[in-house]
Amino acid sequence: MIQTITIEKATEHVKGKLSPKRFTHTLGVVEMAKKLARTYHVDETQAHMAALLHDVMKESPLQEMQDMVKEGHIEVDQEMLNNGALLHGPAGAAYAKLRLQIVDVDICEAIRVHTLGSTSMSILDKIIFLADYIEPNRNFPGVDELRQLAFIDLNRAVISAYDGTIRHLLDLGLTIHLDTIRGRNSVLLERSEL
Ligand SMILES: [Fe+2]
Ligand SMILES: [Fe+2]
Repeated sequence: MIQTITIEKATEHVKGKLSPKRFTHTLGVVEMAKKLARTYHVDETQAHMAALLHDVMKESPLQEMQDMVKEGHIEVDQEMLNNGALLHGPAGAAYAKLRLQIVDVDICEAIRVHTLGSTSMSILDKIIFLADYIEPNRNFPGVDELRQLAFIDLNRAVISAYDGTIRHLLDLGLTIHLDTIRGRNSVLLERSEL
């Protein structure tokens, strides 16, 4: 992995940008992502850094997120642009690259797609997406089973995480971004091709 900032420095930086609660969540994602990386033979430091930075912009004002994606030339649609819950991924990727000199494109991509997923998710992308959903501080019915599944069948666990997210959005009567549907479809198709 090519890297220009140490894990220690990045940790301090993230700690300064997040509330204690979100920082605790972030450390939970790091812990889970590292374990999954070991299981699926992904560079552990790469997973550590991506997990550490995945929510780096989550608590920043929407305007800052918008400025960040613009500066980083990251393409986003209107729906993402106006919603911090969706935009913090792309904004975080731009932040990692431009403010923290993360030159590893795999790390930036995993940060970019951690909320919605994508139609071409790498194993690292899936690990961060899933670790965010099942980190130790998360508590919802079925989380323990999903944690177990994550170490047995990564794709099935990712589909399950998509399903849970979609159900949750339906229950709340909220919009579902098309990338969520497309991402789920592509992992389903990937499985059926095995
Ligand atoms: Fe996030
Ligand atoms: Fe998160």
